Amino acid sequence: MKTLLRIDSSFNLTNSFSRQAADHFEKLWKTVNPDGMVIRRDLERTKPPHLTQEVYGAFAKNVNGETDLTLSDELISEVEQADEILIGSPVYNHAVPSTLKAYIDHIIRINKTFAYDPKTYIRKGLLINKSANVIVSRGGAPINGESPDGVEAYLEGILNYMGIDQINSFSIYGTTYEGSEYALQNSKAAIEDYFKTNEYAK
Ligand SMILES: Cc1cc2nc3c(=O)[nH]c(=O)nc-3n(C[C@H](O)[C@H](O)[C@H](O)COP(=O)(O)O)c2cc1C
Repeated sequence: MKTLLRIDSSFNLTNSFSRQAADHFEKLWKTVNPDGMVIRRDLERTKPPHLTQEVYGAFAKNVNGETDLTLSDELISEVEQADEILIGSPVYNHAVPSTLKAYIDHIIRINKTFAYDPKTYIRKGLLINKSANVIVSRGGAPINGESPDGVEAYLEGILNYMGIDQINSFSIYGTTYEGSEYALQNSKAAIEDYFKTNEYAK
């Protein structure tokens, strides 16, 4: 039985493009994985707090003593359980929402999601045999066919850092322009193509 971890971060709970595209992804995922389980982590409905020096310090000691590591433990356990991860992210001021950044700060954790050899300075991701899908929605248009703010590359870099290198990105552009319904249709079509052609999705 496969497990999908779905992470949403748009603060728009009614007609968000990234949420609608993620709904479509989840629906198709369930079609190809009828016995699959979906874990949902909605960062708008339950906002993770900013990382503190105290919690960060406790990461290295890896003890849930005086400092509460419960949230980080819980978030990492969800990631560990997942075979596939789906991240929906709007672009806010050239970046991911601050809730998503706070979430990332709680899951990038030494000896849990990455390891570091102090002699060689070599880091390695500890999450193996997982794939990820990233849906990024933005009001603006691409520049020379590329993301104008690098949000997709940022999220791919974070996933790579934890050892996930099988990543698919779906970019939705022009959501604030007239005719933006086509942007949503196009992203849904791209997601359908992914499920038709990508063996990893099956
Ligand atoms: C606070 C805020 C900042 C935004 N900043 C950007 C931006 O830097 N670049 C951009 O292309 N669109 C920007 N937008 C537009 C959103 O990316 C766009 O509305 C997108 O569709 C939001 O994702 P959602 O539909 O999933 O909620 C911004 C919107 C908001 C509310």
